Parts: sequence; structure tokens; C-alpha cells
Amino acid sequence: MGRLTGKKIVLGLTGGIACYKVAELTRALGKAGATVQVVMTQSATQFITPVTMQALSGNTVYHDQWDARIHNNMPHIDLTRDADLIVIAPCSTDFIFKLAHGACDDLLSTLCIARPAHIPLLVAPAMNVEMWQNPATQRNVALLKADGIQLLGPAAGEQACGETGMGRMLEPDQLLAEIIAAFQPKTLAGKQLLITAGPTFEAIDPVRGITNLSSGKMGYAIALAAWEAGADVTLISGPTALDAPYGSRRIQVQSAQQMHDAVMAQLAQKHHDVFIAVAAVADWRVSNASEQKLKKTCATDTPQLEFAQNPDILAGVAAMPGAPYCVGFAAESENLLQYGSAKRIKKNVPLLVGNIGHATFGLDENELILFDAHGHQHLPRADKQTLAKQLIAEIAARIKP
Ligand code: C5P
Repeated sequence: MGRLTGKKIVLGLTGGIACYKVAELTRALGKAGATVQVVMTQSATQFITPVTMQALSGNTVYHDQWDARIHNNMPHIDLTRDADLIVIAPCSTDFIFKLAHGACDDLLSTLCIARPAHIPLLVAPAMNVEMWQNPATQRNVALLKADGIQLLGPAAGEQACGETGMGRMLEPDQLLAEIIAAFQPKTLAGKQLLITAGPTFEAIDPVRGITNLSSGKMGYAIALAAWEAGADVTLISGPTALDAPYGSRRIQVQSAQQMHDAVMAQLAQKHHDVFIAVAAVADWRVSNASEQKLKKTCATDTPQLEFAQNPDILAGVAAMPGAPYCVGFAAESENLLQYGSAKRIKKNVPLLVGNIGHATFGLDENELILFDAHGHQHLPRADKQTLAKQLIAEIAARIKP
């Protein structure tokens, strides 16, 4: 099951060099399970051909409002009646103007005006920086927002014309993330979330250290699910090979002490509604770590490591006055029901999520048990993104007044 399985998306292309990136978006939407109906303006066909878009989407492409291939000759009506969402990418300056003023002079603009009110309309602007900053464009953008049309980007950066600034279309993977998010219920809208993820790395010397098998995948999936639910997310991550989850602010740390300090700094900066401690934090650090690389001088020589206990970040946050709603994780190797329930009470958190360490570390799937004051609840084995979405829904239901 892809994340867009069963969804029909009308993908509108208008004139802009960013059309070439939409070829990739079309593939990505299809791979995520969506049915893609491409509609192009005449200008868009100057940048990429309907043949390419038809081959990539697997569906007939429309670009003429008088197209007789639709039986009743009303493509502006029929193409959206079973659609779940319309996205315009790239959306030109001119097309923003048309949407803002209700113009109907080609198939795509007419189709947008004629869409049923419940179908969300998303637009991904792509234009030169001066065109984007022009007060006329900004006036039209404000009208779009007032009409409930969602703007995706634009981003700042180098532009095809050689100039630099705001106006670049979001990348295909970012657009895909935004489209998936548009389908998720906004159960955490306006909430501030702080999440830890990944392993920690405790140095022995400048080139060696002690870490664990956590990949960060569960915590990153939770950060993405929280953003999709409308939260503002800060992710404090130990060393992982993962890209930052879309939508989150990621702060990268190495040691447990650094993770602790980063968490405390965030909590001191602003109010947070929820803290989710997913990270597999090392219980001990090497207290006699060497500033220089330890050398092997003879066959019998072994370094003598000494350990000190790391601060317990979760317990520390849970004990703070006015603490956010705290969610802990427990990775056990056995007796999950017994240990999970005991750990929730020991850490004094309202919700603790238990999993079996070797059945989750590094894998794309997991199985969770949620412990709260009322007992426990099983979330059966599924991919981590599905479980993250379920967990976020459970948290949202619990923090509702
Ligand atoms: O006691 P244990 O390490 O099993 O507890 C796991 C939970 O506590 C996880 O949520 C983990 O992120 C958190 N933790 C922490 N700081 C530590 C150790 C664990 O925040 N030093």
C-alpha cells in the first residue's frame, strides 16, 4: 500500500522551466499509489510534451478546453468530479493571477474554477525572483490564500535565468511530501513538538566510541507524522544515515550529554506541548575518554575504560514544572508487557511505547505496545510510517482537553 493508494490527483502544469521536474513528480505520485490525471496549459506544452506526461502518468493528457475525447465535451467538469486533490506545478505568475481573479480562458483555469468546493487546490509557484517579489504577484498570492488555496513554497535559490532568490519551485520529493500531508488530519495543528531520535555516540578517544544499533527510523517517522498532523516539530537526532524528515527542524548531536543540553535549550527557548523521547540514549559515557587516539603499544596492553552515568533526559523533562506531555520509548529484549508498564511508572510519564529492540533496530517495520494509566494497547506489526501515524493520533487524542 502506497501512501496515496486510492487517491486521484489532477496535476496541472503551466508554463515554466520547472515542468521538467514535474515529470519526476508524476512518477513519484504513481509510485505512491495515486492515479494521476495531467492537464496542461498551452504554455506548458512548450516546456514538456503531452506525450512525455501521458507516458509517465499512464493517462490521457488534456490541454484543450474543446477536446472532444470526453464524451460530453466538458473536460473542465468531468476531469475533477472523482478527484481527491488538484495540484498546479509549476504554477506561473500568470496562472496565479488567473486563479486570484477567477479567469476561465483555458481548460486548466476553467477546471479550477469549476472544481467542487471540497476538493483542495494546491499550487507550487515557480518564477523569477523579481516576478515573485512584484507587488502585483504578492497581491494575487494573498488573494489565493484568502480563498483557502494552499501555497507550496516557493523556495529560495539559484534560478534557471541565472538570478538568485525566492521563486524556485519545491523539489519533486518535497512536493510529494506536501501532497501526502494534505490528506492527513490536522490533529496537532498549532502544537509544538520536541522529539529525540537515533542512537548516541559516546567517545572513547577522537576516533572511537560506543554506540548502539538504533537507526533513527522510528523517531524520524514520528517527526514526519507529527508535521503531517500540523505540528511544528524540532527533532534532536543522534548520528544516523537518514535525511532530515521533511518539515522538521533537525539539530544533530553525538553524545547523550549533547542531546540532553540540546533538549533543555529548546525547552528553555519556548513552550512545547509534547516531548517524545524515541532516542536510544546511552546509559553510560566513558569518563576517562582520551584526548588523543589510544595506541596499542604491546600485545597484552588493554585500555581501562571507566564509566559515568548519563543524565536521563526523559525523566528530567517529565520532572520539570509545567512539563510538556511526555512520551517515552522502551526497547526491551524480553518481558515487554511487564518491563514497559514498570518503566512508565518509573519515568513518571503518561504514555510509554514499548518495542522489542532486535525486532525494530534498523528495520522498516515494527510493532508497538502503548502503556498508559489505563493499561496497554497493541499496535500490530506494520511499516514504521503507518505506526508513527497511529501513535500521533493516539497522542493527539490524549492531549485534547
Ligand atoms: O531506561 P531506558 O533507557 O530503557 O528508557 C528509555 C526511554 O528513556 C526512551 O524514551 C529514551 O529516549 C529515554 N532516555 C533518555 N535519557 C537517557 C536514557 C533513556 O531520555 N539517558
